[in-house]
Amino acid sequence: MIKFIILLLLNIFLFMGETLIIKTRDLFPDFVGFVSDINLKEILSDSLINELDAAVNKYAVLVFKDQNITDHEQVRFTEYFGKIEASGKTSNITKDKDRRLSSDLADVSNLDKDNKPFTLNDPRRIFNLGNRLWHTDSSFKPVPAKYSLLSGRNVSKEGGNTEFADMRSAYDNLDFKIKNKIEKMICEHSLIYSRQRLGFDMVRELSPDEIKNFKPVEQPLVRNNKLTNRKTVFLSSHIGKIKDWTRPDSMCFIDDLIEYATKEKFLYVHKWLQNDLVIWDNRQTMHRARAFDDLTEYRDMRRTTVLGEEKLI
Ligand SMILES: [Fe+2]
Repeated sequence: MIKFIILLLLNIFLFMGETLIIKTRDLFPDFVGFVSDINLKEILSDSLINELDAAVNKYAVLVFKDQNITDHEQVRFTEYFGKIEASGKTSNITKDKDRRLSSDLADVSNLDKDNKPFTLNDPRRIFNLGNRLWHTDSSFKPVPAKYSLLSGRNVSKEGGNTEFADMRSAYDNLDFKIKNKIEKMICEHSLIYSRQRLGFDMVRELSPDEIKNFKPVEQPLVRNNKLTNRKTVFLSSHIGKIKDWTRPDSMCFIDDLIEYATKEKFLYVHKWLQNDLVIWDNRQTMHRARAFDDLTEYRDMRRTTVLGEEKLI
C-alpha cells in the first residue's frame, strides 16, 4: 500500500513537472500566453510538445523569456510543430551567396553577410521594410505558413517592437453584414503588392525571372481553426486584389479592414529583450515590426517558420 502511494505521488510529481506554466494578461485571457519554467535548449517530451501546440492554438502567441538558443536548437524546437518552411527566393530577394544564415532560418535582421547593417539604399533593406506593414508570414505562398518562431539574438536599444493583432477577436467583433459580405471572399496575395505599398517597384528592380517567384496566389479572407472552431479574418498587406473586384476598390476595402482589425483592443505589443523567443500562429494573427535606427543598430532576429498543412483553396 505504501509502495502504491509513493508511486502515485511520484507520478503526480512527474506530471506536475511536465505541465506548462502559462500566464496571461487580465483583460486578454485568450490572447498571448507567457510561458515560464521551460528550457528550449533541452529535448522536450511528446506530452509537453502537445501541450505547447494546444497552447499556440488557444493563445495565438506564446512568449518565452531567457532562451539563449543556437540556430540548431531553434530548428529542433520548430520541427516539433511540423516541417520547416525553407527561406529562399520565393520569400526574399537575397541571393543564396549573400545569405548570413542557413535556409532553415529567415533572416529578419538588418545585417548583411559580414554582420554589418544594410546601407540606406540597399534593395534588401528597402525590401525588409515591408515587415513594418501589417501582414501574416507567407500568406503569398500557395500553402501559407502555420507558425513563426522569432528569436531575439540581439535586440535594438530603442524601438523595434513587434506588434500582434488578434484576428479571432477582430472577426468576432465584425458587424454581421460585413461577416456575410466577406464569408466567401477570395483575395490575391503577393510580395509585389506589399512592396508596392512602400513605393518599391519590384517589377522594375528585379528580373522577369525573379518576378515569377512572386506570382500572386489566392487565399480565402475568412478561415476557421479546426481545433478551436474559431473563425479569423485572414488579412495581410500582401493582399492587392479581391477576386472579381477592381484593384482600387479592393485596396480601399482591405485597408479599411486592416485599420479596423488593428485597433488597440485587438493588440499585443512585444518589447524585445535579448533571448526572448516568440511563437505566433499566422492563421490567427497579423503582426508588424516597428521602426528602429536600422542604419546604426545591430538587430539580429532569426525566424523559423512551420509550414502550413494544406492549400486553402
Ligand atoms: Fe513577418
